[in-house]
Amino acid sequence: MYYPDELIEEVRMKSDIVDVISGYVKIQKKGSSHFGLCPFHNEKSPSFSVSQSKQMYYCFGCGAGGNVFTFIMEYENYSFQEAVKFLADRAGVNLPEAEYNEETRKREGQRARLLEVNKEAAKYFFYQLRGESGKGGLKYLMGRELSKETIRKFGLGFSNVSSDDLTRYLKSKGYEDKLLIEAGLASFDEKYGMHDKFWNRVMFPIQDINHRVIGFGGRVMGEGKPKYLNSPETMIFDKSRNLYGLNFARTSRAGNIILCEGYMDVIAMHQAGFSQAAASLGTAFTPGQAGLLKRYTQEVVLAYDSDGAGVTAALRAIGILKEAGLTGKVLSLEPYKDPDEFIKNRGQEAFKERIAKAENSFFFELRMLEKDYDLNDPEAKTKFHREIARKLCGFGEEVERENYMEAVALKYHISFESLRKLVFSHAARNGMASPAVRPKPGIQKKKDPEENKKKPQKILLTWLVEEPYIYQKIKKYISPGDFTEDLYKKIAEKLFADLESGTVNPAAIISLFADEEQQREAASVFNTKLDHLSSRAEQEKAIHDIVVSVKKNSFDYFYSRSTADVSALNQVIEGKKALEELDKTHISLD
Ligand code: UTP
Ligand code: MN
Repeated sequence: MYYPDELIEEVRMKSDIVDVISGYVKIQKKGSSHFGLCPFHNEKSPSFSVSQSKQMYYCFGCGAGGNVFTFIMEYENYSFQEAVKFLADRAGVNLPEAEYNEETRKREGQRARLLEVNKEAAKYFFYQLRGESGKGGLKYLMGRELSKETIRKFGLGFSNVSSDDLTRYLKSKGYEDKLLIEAGLASFDEKYGMHDKFWNRVMFPIQDINHRVIGFGGRVMGEGKPKYLNSPETMIFDKSRNLYGLNFARTSRAGNIILCEGYMDVIAMHQAGFSQAAASLGTAFTPGQAGLLKRYTQEVVLAYDSDGAGVTAALRAIGILKEAGLTGKVLSLEPYKDPDEFIKNRGQEAFKERIAKAENSFFFELRMLEKDYDLNDPEAKTKFHREIARKLCGFGEEVERENYMEAVALKYHISFESLRKLVFSHAARNGMASPAVRPKPGIQKKKDPEENKKKPQKILLTWLVEEPYIYQKIKKYISPGDFTEDLYKKIAEKLFADLESGTVNPAAIISLFADEEQQREAASVFNTKLDHLSSRAEQEKAIHDIVVSVKKNSFDYFYSRSTADVSALNQVIEGKKALEELDKTHISLD
């Protein structure tokens, strides 16, 4: 949904940044800004600042920064549009509904109905668990050492022994048979009519990342088959694109996401404080799920069951993670079967240690592979080494491959040179993988040669924001067209216009950018610390140097791009003259 600029600006003005951020981070007023511990990286002393006058935040520790939209985008992992929607709701601003065609509207209507009926069902199960008929269910869950708080957090419920009470309840609420069937909550047969899909089970509502109930898993209490009965896939329940627990895990900021096999494992981990746990939905891990995870993390720690099936599933997941450009690690649960059992027996601290010691997924693969070979037999051993070489060819990036070759050589006592030969002879026959696209870490500082050209442009913009009166002194030398970086040029165009009219509004400038990365960079323009120059003469000299270097870069840029016709040549000559002139000019700040 595309919203008009004025509306976005209205939402922003009605969402005071100090007010919004206070809801997430404890901040305290110090001088002209509020300070607190940065929610985007781990720190002990506050370097996260929020400025009410600028309506911006900035972390001097990790460089995170922006306006109220960026904050919500980063914190909630929302897109720009989602953040606008979220803040509009909060501020009571009405956003226009998207204009759909007939078919889309029907589909959207159906999705909304399915979500609604699932929510109603979840509520129903939730109340049953707390009522007379749900006693057995509650006892079962307590027996599995879940606290009341955990049961509430995950919205666990109970489906009664009766074969059609949910159906009757939902029908009394006005939902038609057809919808109940389509939602997978009930089915119809000639003999019995409408009957519930779930009965006499403890119920696990499955939520999407926005906490909406999209399906259910129901577990028998004790032995029985199937152990878990799950909702079928529906229009709103795509098992290959959702993960259980991700609605909580995505905001955990643990630096990784722990992926496991079971609903109970996720719940046990969250209860023990590992809120980064998520699980697939009774089906194998898919590339779609890897893509989903990549929105929230770079590193996935696999905590699959320690049995044979778990190892096979882990090996498969490793390949999918690698393909998606995610780092995979494997956590050992030995001697226990799954995370739930491990935590029950060994506790939280021991689990934390296991996370810290999680094995690099490549070495895990080799360790599993090794089991198929008798390394006392030279023949088998050679085959094993060849297999290692084949796998090493999977690293498309040379540095990474070399690092792995070194580590493998050391670990498996193979000489580095012969391993390298093996790798190359394999590659010669089959080709090397092309380099995987490496994901960008969430917050990164770029350091490239272009930095030198960008810096003066950035400083000049910063200066203009901090000391708007400078604008009058420099405007005859510099125009927005002198900013060769697209981002800075866009900022300059708006900033120069603002300065001309005397109303600078940094946060509104940041909203010009819909992309989070750009917003962050724009925010840093407004929050770069300027060196404190005490004397007027020093300031004047600094301004002069900056203006000259921006102008020189602009000149070089256009010179290198100008074609060799006469008018271009004239421009170059004039530009050169102007530049020399400017270099000799004293820019007075008085
Ligand atoms: P597990 O049997 O490992 O589940 O199956 P669990 O969560 O540890 O179960 P508890 O601890 O015995 O209660 C892993 C996952 O596979 C799916 C479920 O999603 C389950 O969480 N599953 C398993 C089914 O969908 N149906 C089944 O019959 C069994
Ligand atoms: Mn289990």
